[in-house]
Amino acid sequence: MNIHNPNSLDAIDRATLVHPYTDLHAHDDKGPHIIERAEGIRLYDSDGRGYIDGVAGLWCTALGFGEDRLVKAAAEAMKTLSFSHVFSHRSHPSAIELADRLTKLAPDSISRAFFVNSGSEAVDAAIQIVWNYNNALGRPTKKKIIGRDRGYHGVTVAAGSLTALPYKQNDFDLPVNDRFLRVTCPHHYRYGQPGETEAEFTARLAEELNSLIVAEGPETIAAFIGEPMMAAGGVMPPPEGYWPAMAEVCRKHDVLVICDEVVNGFGRTGEWWGSATFGVQPDMMTVAKQLSSAYLPIGATMMSEEIYSVIAAHSPKNGVFGIGMTYGGHPVCTAVALETLKIYEERDMLGHVQAMAPHFAKRLAALGDHPLVGHARGRGLLGAVELVADKETKEPFPPAAKAAPTLYNHVAEHGVLCRPLPGDALGICPPMIVTKSEIDEIFDAIAKGLDSAHEVLTA
Ligand SMILES: Cc1ncc(COP(=O)(O)O)c(C=O)c1O
Repeated sequence: MNIHNPNSLDAIDRATLVHPYTDLHAHDDKGPHIIERAEGIRLYDSDGRGYIDGVAGLWCTALGFGEDRLVKAAAEAMKTLSFSHVFSHRSHPSAIELADRLTKLAPDSISRAFFVNSGSEAVDAAIQIVWNYNNALGRPTKKKIIGRDRGYHGVTVAAGSLTALPYKQNDFDLPVNDRFLRVTCPHHYRYGQPGETEAEFTARLAEELNSLIVAEGPETIAAFIGEPMMAAGGVMPPPEGYWPAMAEVCRKHDVLVICDEVVNGFGRTGEWWGSATFGVQPDMMTVAKQLSSAYLPIGATMMSEEIYSVIAAHSPKNGVFGIGMTYGGHPVCTAVALETLKIYEERDMLGHVQAMAPHFAKRLAALGDHPLVGHARGRGLLGAVELVADKETKEPFPPAAKAAPTLYNHVAEHGVLCRPLPGDALGICPPMIVTKSEIDEIFDAIAKGLDSAHEVLTA
């Protein structure tokens, strides 16, 4: 690529494109890494270099790239009905079929689906529905929502108010108001006290949640939201017994449980839902990403019959249920999502994830022996290594060392693109179609990247 040519893609990118989640100042110098095409689980850049996509795009390309059935489903849907909406009683076949299939796959507690375009919108709609629900029930003060430190729930003003990561909230004036509270991140390695078992850690976190609800007043707390297994905040499986214990506290105070399944959903943890893997029946859940294997943007806010019946009975008051996006339930997106779910079932993707998971876990655990790695963790086909300056004391690297981005670059040199995450973690989340030998390629590259990053970080 020729950065001196003002007509090069590189130069035009630097001159015109505002990149999300990027150090915009550094981008002027660094420029874009341009991916031109992809196939299977591999990406190819503008220099012709191939990489394994070690984080499934942004935790979303479950079926990898170039899946003909999804291309055909999109093309056929575009020819048949390139647009129609689901406002004001209007509907169309693939939205109906998708709602039916999705609610049948969902946990028993969930029976309704509202379509949106992204994970952030799914969370935003969940928040609005919770507020609408409590107004309908005549509980105007029951509005606060409790998230967790390092939780990731998206970027809209309301969803971003629950994304408890400094880079999302600092200088963006979030959380937007005092309706958004948070409790401790359930990451035993980092936040467990010395000598505390996972079960004791769980009991302490459940007590923390209970005390917060009591201190604020249960009549002010509407919901508790969490990713069953946290992803973008550092990939952290919850400690033993966490979700049943947190849900029990919520039930005691009539607080709704919202599982954000945007990353966990559709088999990533080895079950259809992270909530099933970690033992909780949610009142609401949010899905996106793997719902369409990222071929088109679509998400859904899903809810129990009890919540639906309350908001449905209330909707005549204002004439309509007043949330809806032009493209929520877009017929091309719903057709592609429907085809994606058919593929998951026909090819037994769940069985495939379960078959691959032990090998993934074995290779991941082996990285725990590396001098840079304080903790290696995961579930299903989702994992991370957490880098530390001192394995004994768990002392982290100073932020200026940029330990996780450094490791990302070194692993990329060996042909795999993963994702640097908060807490100096490197996230690993290959497309779910990954094979055993591709898992080996991924972990071989990470092991080599760790060796060379070790030299740099400890020099
Ligand atoms: C758990 C979770 N919820 C919500 C979102 C937001 O989804 P989107 O980026 O599609 O808005 C993400 C994105 O990574 C996520 O990981």
